[in-house]
Amino acid sequence: MAASRAFILILFLIYHSAIGLKYNTKPEILRSLLSSGKTVENNTYIYKTKTFEVLVDHFSFSVTDTFKLRYLVNDTWQRGNNAPIFFYTGNEGFIETFAQNTGLMWDIAPQFGALLIFAEHRYYGESMPFGNKSFSDAKHMGYLTSQQAMADYIDLINYLRSDTKTKHSPVIVFGGSYGGMLSAWIRMKYPHIVQGAIAASAPILQFSGVTPCEAFARIVTSDFRAAHHECSNLIRKSWYTITNVTSSDEGKKWFKENWKLCSPLVNATHVRALKSWLSDIYGNLAMVNYPYEANFLAPLPGYPITAVCKHLVEPKLEGKPLLLALKKAINVYTNFTGKTECLSIDNAAPNLGDIGWSYQACTEMVMPMCNDGINDMFEPEPWDFKEYSDQCYKDYNIRPRLDLACTEYGCKDLSAATNIVFSNGLLDPWSSGGVFRNLSSSTSVIIIPEGAHHLDLRASNPRDPVSVINARKYHRSAIKKWIKEYRDKFA
Ligand SMILES: *[C@@H]1O[C@H](CO)[C@@H](O)[C@H](O)[C@H]1NC(C)=O
Ligand SMILES: *[C@@H]1O[C@H](CO)[C@@H](O)[C@H](O)[C@H]1NC(C)=O
Ligand SMILES: *[C@@H]1O[C@H](CO)[C@@H](O)[C@H](O)[C@H]1NC(C)=O
Ligand SMILES: *[C@@H]1O[C@H](CO)[C@@H](O)[C@H](O)[C@H]1NC(C)=O
Ligand SMILES: *[C@@H]1O[C@H](CO)[C@@H](O)[C@H](O)[C@H]1NC(C)=O
Ligand SMILES: *[C@@H]1O[C@H](CO)[C@@H](O)[C@H](O)[C@H]1NC(C)=O
Ligand SMILES: *[C@@H]1O[C@H](CO)[C@@H](O)[C@H](O)[C@H]1NC(C)=O
Repeated sequence: MAASRAFILILFLIYHSAIGLKYNTKPEILRSLLSSGKTVENNTYIYKTKTFEVLVDHFSFSVTDTFKLRYLVNDTWQRGNNAPIFFYTGNEGFIETFAQNTGLMWDIAPQFGALLIFAEHRYYGESMPFGNKSFSDAKHMGYLTSQQAMADYIDLINYLRSDTKTKHSPVIVFGGSYGGMLSAWIRMKYPHIVQGAIAASAPILQFSGVTPCEAFARIVTSDFRAAHHECSNLIRKSWYTITNVTSSDEGKKWFKENWKLCSPLVNATHVRALKSWLSDIYGNLAMVNYPYEANFLAPLPGYPITAVCKHLVEPKLEGKPLLLALKKAINVYTNFTGKTECLSIDNAAPNLGDIGWSYQACTEMVMPMCNDGINDMFEPEPWDFKEYSDQCYKDYNIRPRLDLACTEYGCKDLSAATNIVFSNGLLDPWSSGGVFRNLSSSTSVIIIPEGAHHLDLRASNPRDPVSVINARKYHRSAIKKWIKEYRDKFA
C-alpha cells in the first residue's frame, strides 16, 4: 500500500503509517487527539495536573531508569475516609482529551463521593519515558507495552492508597476503546487491587483467529446502509469511478478542482492515498455517529452518517456526477464548520502519537482487517499478515507477535473474569471485537443498539437514546455493588 499503510481503536482505535489495514481510523483518531492536545477546544472539566515517578521497566531488575507519568486529579467530590477512586486507564493520546470526553465519570462522582483520576498512558501525551528519544530506536521503544502501562497504573493506585485516608478506597477503573481494553485487563490481572471495571467499546477479541477480519468493514457498511439503502451501494460504486475518472490527467485535474484538494493528484500513489483517506473517514464516521452535535474526531452534526447519506440516494448516479455528490457528502465530515479551505489528503507528518500506536500495532495489538467489496462497501483487500509484518520490520525493525494479546489476557476463555461491565454500541464498528455474551453474574455485557463508540462514557445529553441512559444506570448499579462488596470485606 502506498501512502496510507494503515491500521487501528478508540477513542478507540486504527492508524496510519505502515500497516496493511484498511482503515486508518485509529490513526485518524490519534492524529486528532494529538492535534487537539492539551488545548481541548471546550474545556468543560477542571482538574489539577500532576506527575508520578514510575519505572521504565517494571519486569526486570536490570533497568533502573524512571520517568514521570502524568495524571489529572479532581478531588472536589471526594467524601470522607476511603472514598471510592474512579480511575481512567488512559489510552493512546493526550490524557486531557479522555478526561474531557468521559463525562460519565464527572456526572456520577458527586453521587459516589469519589476521587477522580485520569492517568496518561506511557509514550503518549507528555508521558515520555526517554523524553524526545523515546521513539528513536527499538531499544527505547521496547517499553511501550500494555503490560508496562498497566503496571504504571497499579503503582499509581498503590501510591494513591498509601494515605491512611484512602487505604481501603475501592478503585473502579473506566476506559473506552483501547482504554476499555486496559480497564478490563487490569481488573483481570490485578483483582486484588482494582475492584471493578467499566470497559466501554473494548474490542478485546479483535485478534487473529478470534474475530473475522471482515467484521469491522461490515458494521461500517451497515451503518451507511441503514441511513439510506442506496448510500452504501453508491460508495461501493465510487471506488471504481474514482479510478476511472482519475485515470487521465484531465480527470485528475478535474477531481482536484472539484474536490478542492490542497495538492494535485499526480500519480496512482496519490489516488491510492485519496481512497485510503476516504476509507478512514467512513470508519471514523461510524465510530462517532453520535445522536447530537459533537467534536470528537471532527466537528460533526448529530447522526452524521444520516447527513452524509442525504447526498447519496440516487441509484443512477455514476461518473463525475457521482463524485460531485460524494464530495457534498464528505463535506459533512471535512467542512461542517464551513471553514475548511481545501482538503488535505496527505499524511500529516508523523508525530509521536502516531508512532506510538503504529508501534503497538506492530507488537501486541495486531488487529487483522480486510474487505471483500461484496458484503461491505469498500474496495476488496485481503488481510495479508506477511505484508503487514514486513512493513513492521521495515518501520521498526521488529515483527509482531500475533498471539500475544490472547496469550497474555485470554480471548476464548474469559470465565475467570469478574466485576467487569463490557458495553457495546451496535453502531460502533469496534463492537466487531467486543464481548457479547455475559460471562458470569459479575461480568456482564450491555448492548446499546443506538450507540456508537463508547457513547455511554460521554456526559449525559438530552438527546441520549433510552438504551444509553439504561446502560449508564446499569454501570452505576454495578459500581455500587462492587463498592459494597469491598466495603463489607474491609471497612
Ligand atoms: C462549549 O461549552 C458551552 C457550555 O457548556 C456550550 O454552550 C457550547 O456549545 C460548547 N461549544 C462547543 C463548540 O462545543
Ligand atoms: C473539579 O471539578 C469541578 C467541576 O468542574 C470544579 O468546580 C472544581 O474546581 C474542580 N476541582 C479541582 C481541584 O480541579
Ligand atoms: C531533545 O531534548 C533536549 C533537551 O530538552 C533538547 O536540547 C533537544 O534539542 C531535543 N532534541 C530534539 C531533536 O528535539
Ligand atoms: C470511464 O470513463 C470513461 C471516460 O472518462 C467513460 O466514457 C466511461 O463511461 C467510464 N466508465 C464507467 C463505468 O464509469
Ligand atoms: C508519485 O508522486 C510523488 C511525488 O508527488 C512521488 O514521491 C511518488 O514516488 C510517485 N509515485 C509513483 C508510483 O510514481
Ligand atoms: C467549505 O465550506 C465553505 C462555505 O460553504 C466553502 O466556501 C469552502 O469552499 C468549503 N471548502 C471545501 C474544501 O469544500
Ligand atoms: C447480561 O446480564 C444483564 C444482567 O442480568 C442483563 O441486563 C443483560 O441484558 C445481559 N446481557 C446479555 C448480552 O445477555
